[in-house]
This record gives sequence, C-alpha cells and structure tokens, in this order.
Amino acid sequence: MTALLETRGVWQRFGGLVANSDVSISVGRGEIVGLIGPNGAGKSTLFNLIAGVLPPTQGSIIFDGQDVTNLPAAERCQRGVARTFQVVKSFETMTVIDNVIVGALVRNTGMREARRKAHEVLEFTGLAARADVLASDLVPAEKRRLEVARALATEPKLLLLDEVLTGLTPTEAQTGVALVRKVRDTGITVLMVEHVMEIVMPLVDRAIVLDLGKVLVEGKPADVVRDPKVISAYLGDRHAVGA
Ligand SMILES: Nc1ncnc2c1ncn2[C@@H]1O[C@H](COP(=O)(O)OP(=O)(O)OP(=O)(O)O)[C@@H](O)[C@H]1O
Ligand SMILES: [Mg+2]
Repeated sequence: MTALLETRGVWQRFGGLVANSDVSISVGRGEIVGLIGPNGAGKSTLFNLIAGVLPPTQGSIIFDGQDVTNLPAAERCQRGVARTFQVVKSFETMTVIDNVIVGALVRNTGMREARRKAHEVLEFTGLAARADVLASDLVPAEKRRLEVARALATEPKLLLLDEVLTGLTPTEAQTGVALVRKVRDTGITVLMVEHVMEIVMPLVDRAIVLDLGKVLVEGKPADVVRDPKVISAYLGDRHAVGA
C-alpha cells in the first residue's frame, strides 16, 4: 500500500542556515509516527513544508498519491492535511465553539452544519463543557486540546501535532495520549513532534529522529531510543554508548 505522506529529498534553507537537509520520510496510512530531535533540529520547519506554509527550497511532498509541493496551505487542508502550531494560535477573543467552527467551515459551507460538526468534535476531544467559554479563559492544557479540536474539525486524513503534550502535567499528558490514540482509531494518520520520550515512545508505531536538519535514525521506538547516534544527538558525544 502506498504511503499517505512522503517527503522526497526536501531542503529548506533560510539564508545560510539549513533547517531541513535532504529529508525523505514516509508515513503510512493509519500510523502514529513520532518526529523527534533536539531543539532547532528542523521539526517545525518540516511541518511547515508539509502543511504548505512554506514551499521547500528543493524537493517534493507527496500527499495521498499527489504531488502537493506547489499547493498553498488552504488547498492542502482541503485535501486532508491539518496541523496544530507549537505556539498555540487560538482566536483568543472568540469562544471555544467558534474557534472550532473556523476549522469545520473548511468542509461545511453551511453554518448549521459547521456548528454541528464543531459540537461533535468538542465532545470527542472532551471540551464540550467549555464550548461557550472564551478561548482566552482556557487553561494551557485546554488550549492545546482546542488546537487539536480545530484541526480535527477540518476532517483531516493526516494530523500534524507540534508539541501538543509539552508543558502538561503527567495526568494531562496521559489524557492527551489517550486522545491521540482515539484519533488514530477513527482512521486518521498522525505525525507528531514531541520532546518527552517517556510519553511519546510508548504511543508511536515508529519514530523518526531529525538532527541538524537531517534524518538521523528511524525505526521502532525501542530501537531508536537505544541507538547510540540518538543518545549522542540528545546528550552529547560523551554520553554515547561505548564512548
Ligand atoms: N522563518 C525562519 N527564518 C529563519 N530561520 C528559521 C525560520 N524558521 C526556523 N528557522 C531556523 O531553522 C532551524 C530549525 O528550526 P525549527 O523551528 O524547525 O526547529 P525545531 O526542531 O522545531 O526546534 P524546537 O524543538 O525548538 O521547536 C532553527 O535554527 C531555526 O532558528
Ligand atoms: Mg519546533
């Protein structure tokens, strides 16, 4: 079966800085894939390239069998790519339900249908009781959840999660993990950036490690965390196995 998403030899340069360097990854339908790597490794940049925020300097992006490299973000969203932002971008002066309606309007032209979809997603994400609260009044964990809800309201095939479990208490993070599993169980493919290994590794089917813009290692979580290259990228060479 073909992959849902493939990046082929993708580069992103910002002036002299190379944020993504020849990145080729693939994500299969129905997988939860973790994208990990140290700060500045190029993870959010790769999300921007996949979502269409930026065109890659070089390389191509294949989504659902089509080359989407030159399509704008809105068109990719129509085709089923949704993402959350590392820095939460809710519409603060709008209610929770209205934030989610913004997402639902991508696929529902009528306001009634969009509102119905938004309510359904709020139930699914456990935010129903907060529907009429202003986004600015949500606690951080709820804001992250709202980001996920807005993305889900677009009815994606692929959900890109950029550090949605970061900065949460262990209990909140476990609730988030359960939500990601539930999302996947509805048939949505998930590619997620996360730093906290203890949380992300038990959740993902496969992990891809970026370091200095390049794919360093990819494989099963248990193998990836033991890989000396990964240990060295995270902790510095002196901690590498056998060093
Ligand atoms: N728009 C931009 N202009 C210039 N440089 C950028 C831009 N966006 C990202 N960079 C640089 O590209 C590199 C990769 O950044 P990116 O945000 O993709 O890393 P990351 O892996 O998401 O890091 P973090 O874990 O801290 O979120 C960094 O050196 C960053 O400063
Ligand atoms: Mg980032």
